[in-house]
Amino acid sequence: MPAACVIGLQWGDEAKGKLVDLLAPDHDSVVRYQGGANAGHTVVCGDQTYKLHHVPSGILHPGVQNYITPGVVIEPTTMLKELEGLEARGIDPRSNLMISERAHLVMPWHLLEDQVMNRLVVQGENIGTTLRGIGPCYRDKVGRNFAFRMIDLLQPDLAERIATIAEAKKSLLIGMGAKDLAEQLDATAINTAARRWSEQLGPLIGDTTNDLLDELDAGKRLLMEGAQGSLLDIDHGTYPFVTSSNSSGVGICSGSGVPSRWIRRVIGVAKAYSTRVGGGPFPTELNDETGEKIRKIGREYGTTTGRPRRCGWFDAVAVRYTTRLSGVDALALMMMDVLSHFDSINVCVAYDIDGERVERFPCDAAKLRRAKPIFETHSGWDVDVTGARTLSDLPQKAHDYLARISQLVGVPVEIVSVGPDRVQTIFADRARLLSMN
Ligand code: IMP
Repeated sequence: MPAACVIGLQWGDEAKGKLVDLLAPDHDSVVRYQGGANAGHTVVCGDQTYKLHHVPSGILHPGVQNYITPGVVIEPTTMLKELEGLEARGIDPRSNLMISERAHLVMPWHLLEDQVMNRLVVQGENIGTTLRGIGPCYRDKVGRNFAFRMIDLLQPDLAERIATIAEAKKSLLIGMGAKDLAEQLDATAINTAARRWSEQLGPLIGDTTNDLLDELDAGKRLLMEGAQGSLLDIDHGTYPFVTSSNSSGVGICSGSGVPSRWIRRVIGVAKAYSTRVGGGPFPTELNDETGEKIRKIGREYGTTTGRPRRCGWFDAVAVRYTTRLSGVDALALMMMDVLSHFDSINVCVAYDIDGERVERFPCDAAKLRRAKPIFETHSGWDVDVTGARTLSDLPQKAHDYLARISQLVGVPVEIVSVGPDRVQTIFADRARLLSMN
């Protein structure tokens, strides 16, 4: 099977990193193709927890090549810290990692611009970004004149371009009323840092686009690692409360350069409930004790920002939409163990919008904000499932829940996660999942 993909179906944080790490040994390469340090992919292996922001979640497997492709934006200081953190724990990420020369850099001014933009209110709410400079960097990528790519770190005019653009950005920041932030921009200091970026990251830069095409021609197997979730997709998500890349399945080809004809298997990842960080509509949100209980048991705090996540029941309207949008053919349902602690569990099967029953996910944020969830109630299973290793270890009520989710969403549940560790993952049939073509 040439390319399999792992895509988030909600608003991110679906535990995609865990799944990619688990599936990596069945592949030759793992590919991160969009997003940047806004992602926080957690991999738990025994007593070790790894939090990855840019580096693909296949990095813990020395025989697996890892690629960061053109659609990703890289914040070099965080990237270097991430590499050093892995090295300090005995992993050699430099031996199996390549970064595309076409990937864009999140520059220091992007971080400052994100702060200014994040003060603004859109549609009565704050977007609540991760403050990682993601939006400003992608904006400059599309704008072109102020963009820096990895390849630019190796060009002789780097210092001159940094000085020119830093001046322009200072004026822009002052124009936006952020003189305090403009004063933090120091072209000399940025140039000193950039020399370090060139030296340290330069050896990792390569032509990932052609290398991946070569791998496909040679019959190698790729695993595409999505970041964020499909509902945060810039074109198809809950705009403007989204991230600035195509975080649904539609971004795989543009971000990586891998043509769609090679994509044979799309695994959609969803939690057994819902969470969201930052602003934006969230129809099944629970602003009560139940929401607090999910947050506490599920340890629902952002990997990147530490912010408490908003929590709510599973939204089948939203996940059916993203399953279709991302071309998903197998569902991975995560955090099933968290639901063990509830007497009854709700699933949203439709919305009531202005008195009308709606089963189609509205992409207009204003309309979605008016959506009231229509719930179906399931009884809980009140059994600790963290030790379950096969589907037959799960109680009947958990099976009923999985069957109903599968029916509502329209694809089979092939993977169930019952805890953060690698071993706490149940595959309905791993060989069948990975052999389909
Ligand atoms: P940005 O990507 O930092 O610009 O943030 C835009 C929106 O996407 C905010 O609501 C963030 O909280 C959300 N977001 C970005 N990355 C992630 C992620 O990896 N997980 C969950 N939410 C995210």
